[in-house]
Amino acid sequence: MDVEKLMGSPSSVQITEVTKENSSTTSLRFELPTAIKHIEAGQFVMVWVPGIDEIPMSVSYWKAPEVEITVKSIGEATENLCKLKKGDWIGIRGPFGKSFSSDSNNALLVGGGIGIAPLRPLVYNLLEKSTKVTLLIAAKTKEELVMYDFKESSNLGFSLRLATDDGSAGYKGFATEAVHDIINENAFDRMYTCGPELMMKGLHTIAKENGIAFEASLERYMKCGCGLCGTCGMDPNGELVCIDGPVFSGNQLAKMEDFGQSYRDSTGKRMQY
Ligand SMILES: Cc1cc2nc3c(=O)[nH]c(=O)nc-3n(C[C@H](O)[C@H](O)[C@H](O)COP(=O)(O)OP(=O)(O)OC[C@H]3O[C@@H](n4cnc5c(N)ncnc54)[C@H](O)[C@@H]3O)c2cc1C
Ligand code: FES
Repeated sequence: MDVEKLMGSPSSVQITEVTKENSSTTSLRFELPTAIKHIEAGQFVMVWVPGIDEIPMSVSYWKAPEVEITVKSIGEATENLCKLKKGDWIGIRGPFGKSFSSDSNNALLVGGGIGIAPLRPLVYNLLEKSTKVTLLIAAKTKEELVMYDFKESSNLGFSLRLATDDGSAGYKGFATEAVHDIINENAFDRMYTCGPELMMKGLHTIAKENGIAFEASLERYMKCGCGLCGTCGMDPNGELVCIDGPVFSGNQLAKMEDFGQSYRDSTGKRMQY
């Protein structure tokens, strides 16, 4: 067994660009380590924050030789990542996990909060394939929306919709409520999503009711990122989010009791959403 490959060829990389997306979210760009040849939309890397921890982060941009991750500060590791400056070093392993398919002619993408990160490269992949794309970016408030370069969407050739819980931008209400309206206007053949799990659970139900194929990227506590430790297992069948996911199909999710119900904390204790 090639252990180096299994572990995702750990490499050190230097930050080349820092972009503040909003007050709690920062994108960090760096050059691909030579060991990484290709990244698919939806895959993630394990990021070593020197002296603190190693955590999973979706790839939010990839065009060789550059890679970007987008970090929302919620705890010690993410807070320290958000403080890094151009020239600072981090460790990278990966990429890991299953990607989104690009099997759609008319796609609805729904990114809730920081869940927009893995959908960004998917938007570009789908547009390259001439798929009709509608992207809904949702957050609690306008300030928390992560918009990237999608602000120019009229020039990019897709429909951009916004939703905020407080109505400060776009549709006023939850992403699930906005999606009810959007799918009445369009005949989507696939819905892709990443964000809070209760939002994704609601979208899964809407997709099923409307006969729309579904893919969601799940988040679970991860230690190894490569199938060794078992902390990211889903009940009852034990799918590992790091290698069997993080992207799962609607049919796979329908068989997971944990989906939208429970997750395990860093000690392995089961917690309810
Ligand atoms: C495949 C994958 C891709 C991800 N992509 C991104 C991304 O693109 N951008 C981004 O900002 N974040 C992403 N995350 C989440 C990110 O890894 C966590 O926010 C990070 O590990 C938190 O570390 P911390 O030390 O800052 O916070 P901690 O101090 O570890 O945690 C702060 C709080 O969040 C809870 N928490 C932390 N991680 C998890 C988890 N996985 N599941 C449930 N609760 C958790 C803790 O229990 C605690 O209450 C991703 C996670 C996964 C699994
Ligand atoms: S994170 Fe270790 S098995 Fe998935």
